[in-house]
Amino acid sequence: MRGIILSGGSGTRLAPLTKITSKQLLPVYHRPMIYYPLNTLIKAGIKEILIIIAPERAGDYLNLLGSGREFGCKFTYEIQDKPRGLADAYRIGENFIDQENVCMILGDNIFADDLSAEIKNFTSGGKVFAKKVPDPERFGVVKFDERMKAVKIVEKPKEWLSDYALTGLYIFDNRVVDVVKNTQPSARGEMEITDIQNWYLERGELEVAMVAGEWIDAGTFDSLLRAQNLAREKLADKLII
Ligand code: TTP
Repeated sequence: MRGIILSGGSGTRLAPLTKITSKQLLPVYHRPMIYYPLNTLIKAGIKEILIIIAPERAGDYLNLLGSGREFGCKFTYEIQDKPRGLADAYRIGENFIDQENVCMILGDNIFADDLSAEIKNFTSGGKVFAKKVPDPERFGVVKFDERMKAVKIVEKPKEWLSDYALTGLYIFDNRVVDVVKNTQPSARGEMEITDIQNWYLERGELEVAMVAGEWIDAGTFDSLLRAQNLAREKLADKLII
């Protein structure tokens, strides 16, 4: 299994903090934000990790993380010249992914749970992680039937669909590289991860697991503050890097 951390984007909701650095390098208590998703991957035994970054901040990432040797990993870097969407990662990462399965995590997503077992026992198809939230309209949302079988996934639905957001951790088998090649950008001009998820869902090959513990998308001032507190109170002694 190869790992990808998607750490580009523009971070406009955290301006002016993000005028001088990348969102995912901002401090979350005693570590740069990206250390949290890195911990999630490294704990799951993933050692080959592609870090996708925006061109303006590439030097900062190299200074901070280097080759990965100090963490027992091999880091590869790719530039995303424009925020073309989450699924664009599988286009950028084609050579890196090679013939392997791939576990992607967003650079601003912080999970309190140890998801190692869930990641390690992946075999084929797709696997995503849902969480009940008060503000599902901010996220990709998954609708379940009465037997809690996923039936539909919609990106930022305008009308209420369900309270379950899909969190920023996505595992797909190697077919994802071809699936993204046959996907067109959406009306907002982005390659949508929901299109990839629905491709697997329509074939009955998408597993939707529940996240039991806290999950924070640290992309707003309030959620960044919550992430800081979570890190201080519950995560600091669980980090391995
Ligand atoms: P978002 O938080 O949706 O976008 P953003 O980081 O640009 O922030 P804002 O909406 O405030 O401008 O992105 C989620 C994560 O995915 C974040 O870690 C950035 C990353 N990302 C990319 O690397 N490339 C992209 O094309 C997009 C859309 C996001």
